[in-house]
Order: sequence, then C-alpha cells, then structure tokens
Amino acid sequence: MFNEALFRKKSLEQILSDANAGALADAERKPILNRTLSVFDLTALGIAAIVGAGIFSTIGNAAYSGGAGVTLLFVFTAIACGFSVLCYAEFASMIPVSGSAYTYAYASFGELFAWIIGWGLIMEYAVGNIVVAISWSDYFTELLAGYGVHFPDYLSMNYFAAASAAEKINAMLDSGATLESLEADVNYAASLAGFRAYQDAPTIFGLKLICDLPAFLITAVITTIVYLGIQESRTTTNLMVALKVSVILLVIAVGAFYVKPENWSPFMPNGFGGVMAGVSSVFFAYIGFDAISTTAEECKNPQRDLPRGMIYSLVICTALYVLIALALTGMTSYKKLQVGDPLAYVFGPEGVNVPWIAGVVSFSAVVAIASVLLVFQLGQPRIWMAMSRDGLLPKAFSTIHPKFKTPSFSTIVTGLVVGIPALVADMNVVTDLTSIGTLFAFLLVAGGVLVLDKNAPTAERKFKIPYIDAKWIAPALVAFIWGGVFAFNADGARAFFALDDAPFLDALASRLPMAIYFVGTLALAYLAFKHRLSLIPVCALLSCGYLISQISNWSWFLIWLTIGLGIYFAYGRKRSRLNGAR
Ligand code: ALA
Repeated sequence: MFNEALFRKKSLEQILSDANAGALADAERKPILNRTLSVFDLTALGIAAIVGAGIFSTIGNAAYSGGAGVTLLFVFTAIACGFSVLCYAEFASMIPVSGSAYTYAYASFGELFAWIIGWGLIMEYAVGNIVVAISWSDYFTELLAGYGVHFPDYLSMNYFAAASAAEKINAMLDSGATLESLEADVNYAASLAGFRAYQDAPTIFGLKLICDLPAFLITAVITTIVYLGIQESRTTTNLMVALKVSVILLVIAVGAFYVKPENWSPFMPNGFGGVMAGVSSVFFAYIGFDAISTTAEECKNPQRDLPRGMIYSLVICTALYVLIALALTGMTSYKKLQVGDPLAYVFGPEGVNVPWIAGVVSFSAVVAIASVLLVFQLGQPRIWMAMSRDGLLPKAFSTIHPKFKTPSFSTIVTGLVVGIPALVADMNVVTDLTSIGTLFAFLLVAGGVLVLDKNAPTAERKFKIPYIDAKWIAPALVAFIWGGVFAFNADGARAFFALDDAPFLDALASRLPMAIYFVGTLALAYLAFKHRLSLIPVCALLSCGYLISQISNWSWFLIWLTIGLGIYFAYGRKRSRLNGAR
C-alpha cells in the first residue's frame, strides 16, 4: 500500500495518450514538427548537441590532469555512453514522445523517480549550459584578442578563481619568488592571469568587481532568440554541424604534423588517478545524444531512426574525440593545457604558432558553442513543460506565449537560472554537477530498461536491446572491475578500504561514492545471477556507476536532490495529475 502510494506510476498507454492530447505540444511545435526528421537529420542533431564546450574547453582540464592517458578515458567513456545509448534507444522506440528520461522514468519507476530525474535533468540542461556559456566566453574573448580588442580579464572570469589565484601568487611572492620567475614557468600561467585580474579589478562597496560578463550576455541573447521562437531549422543545424566537424578535422589533420611523440611520454604522467580526475570533463563532452530523444514526436519514423541517430552520432563523436585528444596532447606539454580554449591555444603563440588556424578555431568555436547553448536552452523549458503538464510544476511553466508560441515563462526562468550563475560560477564545479546529474539519469534509464523487461515484457519495442544472459557474466565482470581497481588504482583502492593513513571520518566524503558503488555492484551481480538480467543494461549500470563514483563535488548534488525532494513532497505530489486534479 505504502509502496503503491510512493511509487505510483503512469502506464505506457497513459503516457502515449497524454502526448497525443498535448494541445500545448501542438501549438508549440507545429512550425517544426510535421514529422520531418530523417536519420541523417537526427545524427546531425546529435552531433550538434554533443560537440561543444566539452571538446573545445573542458578537455583542457582533463588533459592537464591525465596527460595523453586521457585518450583512454575518452574510449572508456564512449563505451559507457554506448551501453546507455542502447538503453535510451529501446525506450525511445517504446515510448516515442518528448520528455526523454523524465517520461521513461515515469513509466518504469513511477512519479517520484520521474520527478528526481526531471529535477536531475536541470543539472544536465540548465547547469550544463552554465559551463557552455563560460566556455563560449573564453573563446569569444580570445577571438577579440586576435583582433587586438582586449576585454578586461576581470570582466571575463569568475571571482573565486581570480581570488584563489591571487592568494596563491601572493604567497609565492611573499616567500621570495619574483613575478619574472613565475612568468617563466608554464605551470603558473593560469594563476598569473587570475592574479592580474584581481589586481586590476575595480572595488565597489568593498567588493572586487570580477565576473564573466560575456557568459551572461550570450545567455541573454540566446534566451531572447529562443523566447521569440526562432527555431533552429534543419538546414541551420546541418550547416553548423558541417562547420564544427570540419574544424575538428582541420585541427586533427594539421595538428598531426606538429605532434611530437615525446609529449605522449609518460602516457599517464599523474597515474591512473590523474586520468580519472578528468572523468567529468570528458563525460561532459559526450552529453547531448540523449537530447535527440526529446525530438521523438518530430521524427518520420522515430522507432527506427532514433536509435540509429543516437548510435551514429555517438560513434562519429567518439572517433573525433579520440583523435583530438591524441593531437592535443601530442602537440604540446600536457602541463600547458589547463586553459579554457585549448584547441585555439595549441595553435597560438604559446603553442605551435599557426595563428590563422588559431583564428579559425576560435571563430568556429564561438559559433559551435553558441549552437549547443541554443539546443539546451530550448530543451530545458520543454522538460519543464512536460513536468508542468503532469502537475509536478506550477502551470506557469507550461504557459505558451500567444504570439511567439513558445513556453515564455519557462524560457525566461531558464535564462535567469543559466545567466546569473554564469557570471560567477567556477567551471570545474559546474562541470562536475552536470556530469553527476546526467550520469544519474543514465543509471535510471538503464535500470528502467531492466524493470520494464520484467514488468512490461510484451509492450511493443521497435528496437530491442539484444538479450545476452548476464547470469554468469555480470558476477565475473564485477570481480574483474574490482581486480582492476586494485591493480590500476592501488592508492584509490587502499583509501576506499580505509587501508591508508587518512582519518576515516575525514575521508568519508571521498570514500562514500566508491562505497556505494561497491555495494551496488555486489547487489547487481546478485540480481543478474538470480533473474538472468539482460547484459547490456547491466553493463550500462556498471560503467556509468563507476564514472559517477569518480566525480567529486557530490555534496552539492545531494543538497540539490534534497531540495528537489522537498519541493516534490510539498508541491508536486499534491498537485500531480495522477491525483485526478487539474
Ligand atoms: N556535450 C556538450 C558540450 O560539450 C554538452 O558542450
């Protein structure tokens, strides 16, 4: 009884009929719907959403901590995403309506989990866009600098980064170092930029004015476009993708001539731990293929084409990413790569000095990253609309502008939620949050496939994940994973089992995710053995679970979830359409 109340579900039939009845959906989508998207368009759309801040920016951090070994992380992350793609594909072919993971969770786990996913997707879309906006700003200011226009550093970086850089450099100066000596060392390049920004910033009411103004402004511009209803047309998307892919191919092709193999050695300069420190940055680069599933109501043949579009876009991006990672880490020392615009940087004066390519890369990045911003800035209000239609959010979130036919309120809220934090947020923290939120959605989608395999075995699926019995393979994989953790990440494993010297409680926060993963893998091995679960979703759970356990900044995510649960029990649960209200 309690179970039923807490985990109440929407049936597959109800979800499909709600989608057909969505007057709102009709009003909003007529201009672009009409079921026009082909598998080619879907693949392009996938690449449009995937290739952006990750490969143009956050890869810099990952390469800095992991060296050339980051290439392996790109491969491993692609495999984890590959398993998840298949799970998304099965769902998209069974429930071809927009709403993506939120709708899938409603069908498989019920309303509470659907809410959690919807709430978590804010991490992927809105919070992810904060990273994208900051990355855009880095490339934009670099592009301006190429034309001799120098945007003040204190108006294009976040306060906390500048303050901590200033503190670090001041401490070095106090201990006898000179500015000249620090300037000569590449390791201090990023800190010196922050130090200077802090020095130059005007003080207002006792506070240094340091913020990322371009990140805010681009969010405002994109929000206005989205509000006015200028939809990305198919042609624009395809052109944009052609531009991005050409630039990446250019970087790979020209970069190959400048690769010095000695830069790849040692392959993992900071060990396995250093490589894994880049998880959230690398995973961030892959986020986006799932966004295609929100176009389910706009495809010619969603059940056939959605799975293909997602798989093709992932395969293409993986190939590009692995080659880019090799080129980037081969062209220059990994130590120099901790910059916001690494692809342009390696061709700039501090890299191999081919200014015209640096210029082309910066210009294309500005366009490419803006397009990702647009895709997610369009996607977030749609998810809120779906949640509002279900009664889980106030009606205002599904209000459609009478003239522009766009979800006006949701769009403005999205603009504020992205634009204001973009002024001050630290990119690394926000990247972590985005990756945790998205991986969380992937885990629930993979779990959802297993649940519906059992609860709705006869529901029609145009795409069915090939069944491989996990009875013996899953326990063997779990043993293999833990053997691997000990073999390759001995320090991490020792810390996790409290065999190191750190006081147990102090290190608990970092141990907890690994501990949860450990227990989770054992439980999964048991369930796979007992119920002969399907291997591919099990592999999705194992691989995405491992990635999520490697990301820091968990506490922020837990706070986020707690707030979300509070809102659900105080508001959504009472107003839900499942109560028969509205
Ligand atoms: N994968 C998307 C990007 O890198 C989110 O911008």
